[in-house]
Amino acid sequence: MLFIPILNLEPEIELLREDLERAYKEVLGHGRFIMGPEVSAFEQQVADYIGVKHAIGVNSGTDALVIALRAAGIGEGDEVITTSFTFFATTESIDMVGAVPVFADINPDSFNLDPASIEHVITDRSKAIMPVHLYGRPAAMAQIMKIAEKYNLKVVEDCAQSFGAVYEQHCIECNGECEPSAHKSLKTGAIGDAGAFSFFPSKNLGGFGDGGMITTNSDELAELCRKLRAHGSIKKYRNELMGYNSRLDTLQAALLSVKLPHIDRFNENRRKAAHRYTEVFSGLNTIIPPSLPDHGHVYHQYTIRVLDGKRDELADYLKENQIGSMIYYPIPCHKLPVYEGRFDGLALPVTNMLTEEVLSLPIGPFLDEKDQEQVIRAVIDFS
Ligand SMILES: Cc1ncc(COP(=O)(O)O)c(C=O)c1O
Repeated sequence: MLFIPILNLEPEIELLREDLERAYKEVLGHGRFIMGPEVSAFEQQVADYIGVKHAIGVNSGTDALVIALRAAGIGEGDEVITTSFTFFATTESIDMVGAVPVFADINPDSFNLDPASIEHVITDRSKAIMPVHLYGRPAAMAQIMKIAEKYNLKVVEDCAQSFGAVYEQHCIECNGECEPSAHKSLKTGAIGDAGAFSFFPSKNLGGFGDGGMITTNSDELAELCRKLRAHGSIKKYRNELMGYNSRLDTLQAALLSVKLPHIDRFNENRRKAAHRYTEVFSGLNTIIPPSLPDHGHVYHQYTIRVLDGKRDELADYLKENQIGSMIYYPIPCHKLPVYEGRFDGLALPVTNMLTEEVLSLPIGPFLDEKDQEQVIRAVIDFS
């Protein structure tokens, strides 16, 4: 029996190998490795796909967050409300601009920020909300945008895990009772003041190294991001701001351009596999699969909750049966060693509970039925 990894990138690469090699050779041919023509072409491709005016390539999702925050005017001492149930880069970016992460709790159904909890932590110093569309599921953006408007806060979406995810505003607000014609579908990254994407290789739109992108409809914010990513200058050797060396490599842009036209199909394959898991797991005792409906979810991860303290036991059982699994994330950000002493006593009951329960199972655009069946069998046998 072959080991089933949590994600297998090989079939994707094989499918696109010819086009990837062609794109790579073109860049080797012209040699413009920094800000070559492929960068602006890919930026336009992403802007069109996400449905925004501007997309600005940078060299990682982390830098996309940092630069978007700075361009949105967030700095020293400002409070940014976010989730602790995320990868550290989310909160790290807030600290890196001199601001202060303030943690709100999450919803146990969606794993995303709970809008009611956000209102509880707003102070005079609150300047922004940073929702994370965790595991590829859009956060409750209608409610979050309403809060942001009420308290005059910026919204920077952490879209690292949600490339292609669609937020269907009316479905969520009306519980499916409104006319479908009244639905407003927006891609994540097109809702707040800015969106920050990651092209880390394992992401839904994964590159071949580090890469990231900022999306926005604001001309002003886009211009600042363009300056900040290139040492604070638009015009060479005319530096206006303290910035970063954070351009998206031409090679990454060229290769990602090959992948982008396939993203909807890849995401649809993930959704199909996820729905199959959920259908089977819904009747099991110790397992809570992700809740449905899951409008626009792109299942960067398929994450279940394992009750009765049995999560680690299940992970071990899967491993014995040649199946990979991962805990995203074993320690919530507010308890990480880097913050030692800073958030002691902070009450985030749902975040703390889910940290003990979550387990992500193999998923991907090319998870074949046989492998999926093996995962399903093992989970059923265990439960
Ligand atoms: C939620 C979240 N935010 C931010 C990042 C940072 O992205 P990158 O690794 O491209 O810097 C990641 C990915 O690793 C992530 O999962």
